[in-house]
Amino acid sequence: MSVEVGDRTYLGPLPAVWVRNHLLGLEELSAEELTAVLDAAAMFKEVTEGCQEKLNVLRGKTCANLFFENSTRTRTSFSLAARRLGADTLDFSPSGSSLSKGETFIDTAKNIEAMGIDVVVVRHRTPGTPHLLAQNLACSVINAGDGAHEHPTQGLLDIFTIRELRGSIAGLTVALVGDINHSRTARSNIWGLKKLGARVILCGPSTLVSQRWRELGVEVSHDLDAILPECDVLNLLRIQFERQTMRPFPSVREYAHLYAMNRERLARTRADILILAPGPINRGVEVTPDVADGPHSAILRQVTNGLAVRMAVLWLVCGAADRDGS
Ligand code: CP
Repeated sequence: MSVEVGDRTYLGPLPAVWVRNHLLGLEELSAEELTAVLDAAAMFKEVTEGCQEKLNVLRGKTCANLFFENSTRTRTSFSLAARRLGADTLDFSPSGSSLSKGETFIDTAKNIEAMGIDVVVVRHRTPGTPHLLAQNLACSVINAGDGAHEHPTQGLLDIFTIRELRGSIAGLTVALVGDINHSRTARSNIWGLKKLGARVILCGPSTLVSQRWRELGVEVSHDLDAILPECDVLNLLRIQFERQTMRPFPSVREYAHLYAMNRERLARTRADILILAPGPINRGVEVTPDVADGPHSAILRQVTNGLAVRMAVLWLVCGAADRDGS
């Protein structure tokens, strides 16, 4: 299938390197596969900016959102991405479902799949849930966040945004700041950024950034002010109070004093520093409003790019499934 926009033709065959009919994490992706997704996302961004019509690339397919945790950005952008590609969408809500009558998670998923679903997009608080679904369902499975394990499309859209604004990933120093221990976004960023050649520094209080992270080939710092001048990109991660069993610092005010990105800290960064945050942001905790809304911030651009990244992922996994005849 091809799409004509102006005098250019887009799409065509799937990249040869892409053979996966699931996207479960970035840990298992090679640099070539990561690049294939980023390139496809760039193409979808260009196509959708030039043409607001449905592309009908996935006409006849149905994508189901199974979100067992709250979401604003991921759920809505997967729905919109699927519809922009011409697919039908189905939103499953656990509250009000027959899970409350004792039906198991797998039986629930199998019943939804039996309605003719081609792709399941799943978010769940338990790490490994998407992998379990991939073993039990015939359709494609995309991980939309599994506990503190991975959030691959968030990692991809973060990396896409950096590549779009800085040209490439190799050679950049990217700091992930905040609650790393409980962050699925951190893991996906680490795998993707390292494979594409970035230097990655994790920064936050010792209760939220353990030294064991060094085993993944990243650096660990507990002093944001010390690393600021070295960074090209700061990705500010939310404190995940909902995943913590004890208070990791005496007060939010103390955390903000040491780690919030504010005007004073911004003045001590490189002139072209790029500020990212996966969202939702807590204004005044990990970032002050003037920085979040300021000229260095790419926070809303990340959300825009999330749509193109999710279109790319849906196109790739569905294309691989069709190529397999599965
Ligand atoms: N960044 C992110 O995953 O946002 P949502 O929880 O709103 O989907």
